[in-house]
Amino acid sequence: MTWTREKRYKKYQDWGAQELLELQTKAANSKTITHYHIHPISGLINDPNGFSYYNGEYHLFCQAYPFGPVHGLKSWIHFTSPDLVHWQYRGQAINPDTDKDNAGAYSGSGFVHNGNLLLMYTGNHRDPDWTRIPYQLIDEMDQKGHFHKWDEDLIPQPDHVTEHFRDPQLFEHEGQYFVLVGAQDKKTKTGQIDVFASNDLHNWHEDGYLHFTDKDMGYMIECPNLVFVDQKPVLIFCPQGIDKSVVHYDNIYPNMYIIGDQVDLSKAEFKTNQSSPLNLDEGFDVYATQAFNAPDGNAYAVSWVGLPDLSYPSDNEGWANMYSQVKRLEIKHNKLYQHPVKAIESLRYDKQEITSGMQTGNQYEVKLIIKKGQKGQLHLNANQDLTNGLILDFDTGTDAKLIIDRGQSNPLVNSDYGTRRTIPLNKTEDLDLDIFVDHSLCEIFVNDGEHVATLRFFANEGDQTIGFTAGTQVNGILWKMKSIL
Ligand code: FRU
Repeated sequence: MTWTREKRYKKYQDWGAQELLELQTKAANSKTITHYHIHPISGLINDPNGFSYYNGEYHLFCQAYPFGPVHGLKSWIHFTSPDLVHWQYRGQAINPDTDKDNAGAYSGSGFVHNGNLLLMYTGNHRDPDWTRIPYQLIDEMDQKGHFHKWDEDLIPQPDHVTEHFRDPQLFEHEGQYFVLVGAQDKKTKTGQIDVFASNDLHNWHEDGYLHFTDKDMGYMIECPNLVFVDQKPVLIFCPQGIDKSVVHYDNIYPNMYIIGDQVDLSKAEFKTNQSSPLNLDEGFDVYATQAFNAPDGNAYAVSWVGLPDLSYPSDNEGWANMYSQVKRLEIKHNKLYQHPVKAIESLRYDKQEITSGMQTGNQYEVKLIIKKGQKGQLHLNANQDLTNGLILDFDTGTDAKLIIDRGQSNPLVNSDYGTRRTIPLNKTEDLDLDIFVDHSLCEIFVNDGEHVATLRFFANEGDQTIGFTAGTQVNGILWKMKSIL
């Protein structure tokens, strides 16, 4: 099937119920779709949107294209959860049904205000000649889950930016409302984060581009996201086209962060000691992470597992992408740590001690300590003779590192961007791994969340062996994980 522009942007009401049902059935019967991580009900999901706590539950919306595994006319779909682990699908939320969002309800954020949840997003408008005009809009959700779109264009595109002006994050800080918008400067064609302030949510003035580095952040910044972690401002963002000499990354586009000491939004100043941003995830497939400060005092983040402009082997089953589990953020030793939330433990069952050669299934968690001073390999979802599967190559001696190699599991995934990722480790220390596998998704938390690596991989369905290089000193526990979706 060819996905022409016409087809991708066909109005939702012009699709038949039968077509949608077929896609839903395909996703539901897929062998590689996740069971305890958010996935599309049909078609594609990308950026997490509107992540928030409202009316006694957590809300998470997804950029979605329900009619195929491609980026088409985007809407927001809605999930809720009591504990950030058990998610329930609540249906379509923001539909692209007005002139201002006629070519998609693009990414944005959630902000609780006067008893309602304000969902601020970019209306991706296209003129008949396909010229893009971005509008920054609000769809207001009440306690009954009813939506009401404001009809104001809250922040008209400033003259000094191109039409790449999107992904508003709305929040309150020190008694004022602020919005961060991802932007491309018109003159220099550089990626920027544009800061706006308001006292009433209707009249906005521009504070300027956020100054958080002197380095060149490429040609566009998507999905800017400011969150406070242990009192420090942390800026999470997706710079596109950044030069690899500025910060190294291996993925097509990185998802980065920078920790600040203080932020003065009215001056658009983000003060930091960090010389460059860092990769938020050291795996292959994380983008558009959205974090928010929850009323319980924690900062939580969730990531799109998928990357713009790339496709995945499972796309040919009619669905695309998924989300990471929710991660609790913490700052320790001036570094950002990411942890599984406590409630994920409620999915565990069938606890077993790990022995090399045992069968894990395709939906499990393993927690391991690999003793210091060793070199070897851990195989996940391997065949009996360990020649196929996901490989973690570890060295816990003086050249301490962990290499994640998805080059030995087939089909390969976006191998143009390499099949290995290397995580540097501290010399001569036990290595602590907490690994979550959910069919074609794997999340690896290294040394209590000091590093996280997230990736898709495809093993044969029956390849479920966990194995170690003979003689490896390791202690480990395996749990099977229950399904939530
Ligand atoms: C990032 C992004 C956003 C945009 C959305 C459209 O992946 O390109 O900038 O709002 O996806 O789906």
